[in-house]
Amino acid sequence: MVATEYKQIDEVLSTWLNARFREVFPETEIGENIGRVIPSANAAFGDFQCNDAMALSKVLKQPPRNIATKVVEGLELPSMISKLEIAGPGFINITISSDFIAESLLAMAAADKCGIPQCGVGHTVVIDYSSPNVAKPMHIGHIRSTVIGSAIDKLHRALGYNVIADNHLGDWGTQFGIIIMGYRNFVDKEKLASEPATELERCYVQSYARAKDDEEWMNRCREELVKLQQGDEENLALWKEFIRLSMIEFNRVFARLGVNFDLTRGESYYQPVLKSVVDRLEEAGLAKDSEGAKIVDLEAEKLGVCIVRKSDGGFNYATTDIATVESRVTEFNPEKIIYVTDERQQLHFKQFFNICRKMNIAPESTALEHVWFGLMRLPEGTFSTRQGNVIKLEALLDEAESRARKIISESRPDMPEDEAAKLAAKIGIGAVKYSDLSQDPRTMITFTWDKALSLDGNSGPYLQYAHARIRSVLEKYKAQFPELDYESYPIVLNEDIERSLALKLAMYPSAVKKAAQSYRPCVLADYLYELSQLYSSFYQRVPFLKADEGVRESRIRICSIVAKVLSQGLGILGIEAPERI
Ligand code: ARG
Repeated sequence: MVATEYKQIDEVLSTWLNARFREVFPETEIGENIGRVIPSANAAFGDFQCNDAMALSKVLKQPPRNIATKVVEGLELPSMISKLEIAGPGFINITISSDFIAESLLAMAAADKCGIPQCGVGHTVVIDYSSPNVAKPMHIGHIRSTVIGSAIDKLHRALGYNVIADNHLGDWGTQFGIIIMGYRNFVDKEKLASEPATELERCYVQSYARAKDDEEWMNRCREELVKLQQGDEENLALWKEFIRLSMIEFNRVFARLGVNFDLTRGESYYQPVLKSVVDRLEEAGLAKDSEGAKIVDLEAEKLGVCIVRKSDGGFNYATTDIATVESRVTEFNPEKIIYVTDERQQLHFKQFFNICRKMNIAPESTALEHVWFGLMRLPEGTFSTRQGNVIKLEALLDEAESRARKIISESRPDMPEDEAAKLAAKIGIGAVKYSDLSQDPRTMITFTWDKALSLDGNSGPYLQYAHARIRSVLEKYKAQFPELDYESYPIVLNEDIERSLALKLAMYPSAVKKAAQSYRPCVLADYLYELSQLYSSFYQRVPFLKADEGVRESRIRICSIVAKVLSQGLGILGIEAPERI
């Protein structure tokens, strides 16, 4: 069978139904979203359903069932649909023909990137994530921002977007005077070598504590800050050294998490233009004086007051962010700029987005999106190293690896040490990432080792195992039938489970697109989990290697597509899919 170009089944159906609604109700304005189909809640009612007769009932002043009947009456069904029915108050239920599913599946498997729509080609998005602060170790918020941000980054790349991942380091601010004094007086060189950001923070804390009851110390901190701001060579060199040292610790974390940035432009990069930003805000009548500071009053929009220059003349976090938008728009002309931080910064983003819109610093053509997530809860005793709300990510990853190592030594005691260690890293780190990515970012989540490492629940290791088991079926097939090429056989969908699995597979491109567009990697994680559950029923219910020739090849071929989708999908989430476990 010659593979035709893959088209997302749900999109084809939705477009077709939308046109039908317009045809039947020419007098009414039918929006683009009318006619949307979604996978059926219950397979007994078909593969997809459209609920829009209900949505239109008010506008059309008719009972939804009448609307659905008018849509369906005299409708000529395309060959891809085998059954279309109205149910209940006015649901339109659609069943796809098995032949069409088989054809779609082949087209998808043959297409580049498994048929993921390349709707991002020619467009740029800037994604601002991780963005930790210099001279402080990353806290749990930065860790989630790194993992979620990197998945959103990869999702957009998968859709063909030109992605600029920018690590917007917090590398400028009034704390540097205190840090300079702390560093000069209290640094422990040994600790600095092993955990630079942590040791720098300790110096800061010690110096800050002293400044509180020692006025002379406080004054010296201020002097050092002023010297730095005025470009004093020695202080500038120290500041650069703090960045270099902090980056060593951050980069270690990024390397273990497999995260890469295209840019690491810290806040300091924008310092030279901040004065001009505030001047222009004033000229436009947006910024005004208030107790020696300059503020933008957004009370009328219930967004409070945004300080853009402090009374001591220093600029704020918001001012830098406004300048950053301007720089990104000018340099990259992005379709959107996406920021990933924890929920506590919502007001900050609303404020400067609002100001950028009013100043036309962000034109209509550039969307500004704040993707926020809730903080993760950690039950007592979850991590061995914990200070306040700072969880040392490296300790967490170490623990994940050593727990995975233990599981491997129980299941594969024969595995050579170095192989086992590499595998443990893939499983342990995959488990930590997946436990974060599989949940809706906005919900409060509680991390537990049992759930993260579970082999029979919705976990990273579960999906990795599912993938590796399929690979081993494929190996067995190759060993038993070396002369046969399953790819030259057609796909036959005789059994219900086969059909459901094939339909699920063909929906992979839609899942990727939806996850990217909603900024929720959990949409893809859920999809992959449901796919592996269907696969496991498939595996249990029908024979593979013992089936008759033809049926066997079709099943093996489906297996190979499941493996391909699982490893590609996990890859988009930043999780490795080892061939063997
Ligand atoms: N450095 C900030 C923090 O640690 C996060 C920066 C997020 N990005 C931004 N453009 N504001 O909270």
